Amino acid sequence: MDSIYGFPNYYEIAYSYRNIAAEVDVMEEAIRKYSRIPVHTVLELACGNSPHMLELATRGYQYYGLDLSPTMLEFAQNKADAHQIDVQFYLANFIDFQLEEPMDFIYIMLGSLYVNDTEELLSHFRTVHKALKPGGLYFLDWCVDFSPLDNSQDSWVMRRGGITVTTRYSTRLFNAAQQLYEENILFTIKDHGKQKKLLHTGIRRAIFPQEFVLAATKLNGFELLGWWDDWNWERPLGEGRGEIVRPITVLRRL
Ligand SMILES: C[S@@+](CC[C@H](N)C(=O)[O-])C[C@H]1O[C@@H](n2cnc3c(N)ncnc32)[C@H](O)[C@@H]1O
Repeated sequence: MDSIYGFPNYYEIAYSYRNIAAEVDVMEEAIRKYSRIPVHTVLELACGNSPHMLELATRGYQYYGLDLSPTMLEFAQNKADAHQIDVQFYLANFIDFQLEEPMDFIYIMLGSLYVNDTEELLSHFRTVHKALKPGGLYFLDWCVDFSPLDNSQDSWVMRRGGITVTTRYSTRLFNAAQQLYEENILFTIKDHGKQKKLLHTGIRRAIFPQEFVLAATKLNGFELLGWWDDWNWERPLGEGRGEIVRPITVLRRL
């Protein structure tokens, strides 16, 4: 079966449930509260189709995106061209990359911090540390596994322009000692009468909260400013026992 990342137009519909302007408001509030430097340049890691790019450009930021998938990057570049905005993309691996100049702000969305093992996790923080100016923020959406590695599933349906995409997301424990789980994302698409299925499947390593703190702060020169549930500054994690929905984490480079 083809990959979901080979068809960015369907990917974009599947994940269009987000309120992009409201999310950029939260990122700007993080900058106002916590950044020690003015922010002009922003880099999205695992940018894919770059959902926040147009909103950020409209607000005056210089957008950069980095991803492993040429197809996703081409889609994002076409979107930028259609809106005549000047952006730059890097075809690179966020585990280890190099920029000409460090950025003012770096972010990563939707739990896209895919690592296979501890060495990749450490290498990621080392490389992001080099890519960010001192005093700048690294803003992460999901990426930290606050729940144990239970098998889980979720599904939702999104529609746009005569196309329906049903997404089924599921995880299955693969190796508890190595913190590995299998992740499956299945799109079932109805596009003007035609049916298609796309799949992303892979084994990924869970990143638990305290090892995240260890890797980012003790081993790699960031400070943890906090983490909040559901993109809501009123809901810092650590207070309350309810289910954690979609947490954000804010790090600052020392
Ligand atoms: C869930 S999508 C996120 C896309 C977009 N940022 C968003 O918010 O919808 C994950 C993206 O991560 C990219 N990716 C996965 N592993 C990567 C790596 N090691 N380095 C760079 N990009 C990676 C994939 O190609 C894909 O475009």
